[in-house]
Amino acid sequence: MKIAMIGSGYVGLVSGACFSDFGHDVVCVDKDASKIAALEAGRMPIFEPGLDQLVSSNVKAGRLSFTTDLQAGVAGADAVFIAVGTPSRRGDGHADLSYVFAAAKEIAQAADKPCVVVTKSTVPVGTGDKVEAILKETRPNFAWAVVSNPEFLREGAAIGDFKRPDRIVVGTEDAKAQDVMREIYRPLYLNAAPILFTGRRTAELIKYAANAFLATKISFINELADLAEQVGADVKDVSRGIGLDNRIGSKFLHAGPGYGGSCFPKDTLALLRTAEEYGTPLRIVHATVEANDLRKEAMGHKVVAALGGTARGKRVGLLGLTFKPNTDDMRDAPALDIVRVLREAGAEIAAYDPEGMEQARAALGELDYRHNPYDVAAGADALVLVTEWDAFRALDLKRLAESMRTPVLVDLRNVYNPAEAEKAGLTYHGVGRGVAGAESPLEQKVA
Ligand code: UDX
Repeated sequence: MKIAMIGSGYVGLVSGACFSDFGHDVVCVDKDASKIAALEAGRMPIFEPGLDQLVSSNVKAGRLSFTTDLQAGVAGADAVFIAVGTPSRRGDGHADLSYVFAAAKEIAQAADKPCVVVTKSTVPVGTGDKVEAILKETRPNFAWAVVSNPEFLREGAAIGDFKRPDRIVVGTEDAKAQDVMREIYRPLYLNAAPILFTGRRTAELIKYAANAFLATKISFINELADLAEQVGADVKDVSRGIGLDNRIGSKFLHAGPGYGGSCFPKDTLALLRTAEEYGTPLRIVHATVEANDLRKEAMGHKVVAALGGTARGKRVGLLGLTFKPNTDDMRDAPALDIVRVLREAGAEIAAYDPEGMEQARAALGELDYRHNPYDVAAGADALVLVTEWDAFRALDLKRLAESMRTPVLVDLRNVYNPAEAEKAGLTYHGVGRGVAGAESPLEQKVA
């Protein structure tokens, strides 16, 4: 199969590289000449484990190439994927589809034969219809087929997710387009990944429903964590206790500082806007978003409380800044809200992130950036584990405690065992790990 991938950002690049690794002939197109030049020189524009090797081996094999020339990329293609950005539109939270529609128009102008056009970008329900209308209007004499094929890639694990998916969703009722998509994903049959053929609008909704549901699991367990703290329960055991029920499932039940990243915050908002437009309120998703927004800010206040209620003149060390490990992505990271609250409270902030320092500087401005976790802890009044990078999972707690001015550990990812941290000399604050035997406000009143 000959595939053109329009947009060489995160999704386009990972998908294009994986398709070429399946043996397809792939051209990745992007308007950004410096990005294409970097890719041609073997430099990745994003940090994603394994991507550089995957790209270089397929470029070497002659199956993967890069260009700014959309017309050349699209020439002879059996399928053209649209994987351009769909950022939240400023002000109203709607997904901005201008890049998607511009790509559709350019594809129609450039195509030398009818082909299958596939939207990989996350797009609101009904976008496929609009893409089809643009294609037909621009080149009425071609028989166009438009497919929705959403991605479910996690940053940091994207190649594994692409090659070993739980399912592939293909939204089209066009039989020929279904055959093309079957052929494109054929190498995955070996992994027994089911392909789910649905209507196009259904496929578009599946993507939003999946992300909103996962976000809801996180907000749910985060609110339970707050309650666990109050009642003297441990949310980690609550997660395990409910997650072993197959109907619930154990994944996405880790309590933490709130979800961030390029997908959940943006996609939940876009889904809410769509629901509003159609007059069908999604109250649960609404509550999920609200709980998450409040949570990220509350984590800053949690640190201030751990400092004894005041941050002025205190030094706080942050371990990890990206929204999760194995990425350099700072988009909607809880660290942004935590730093804002701590700054407002007058704290001095030191920080370190294994891969995200450059992006963090761009997003957070001046902080006392350090080169390793021990430097961050030195002289601090609280050390906050914000992102659970592996490099932070086996720190020498005693060494940390001894180097701090006040040995307080705020573990926002529940990485450490509270008893071990206390034994090492740290005052430990986790998330949702209440003190056993806590009294309820009601009991106190009765007493
Ligand atoms: C997500 C989806 O998983 C993926 O399928 C979709 O295509 C894009 O969005 P990603 O944003 O890369 O992927 O990260 P993910 O691993 O899902 O984590 C999202 C956020 O949730 C992170 O901030 C993470 O820290 C948080 N999270 C995740 C929790 O707080 N608790 C959990 O149990 C799981």
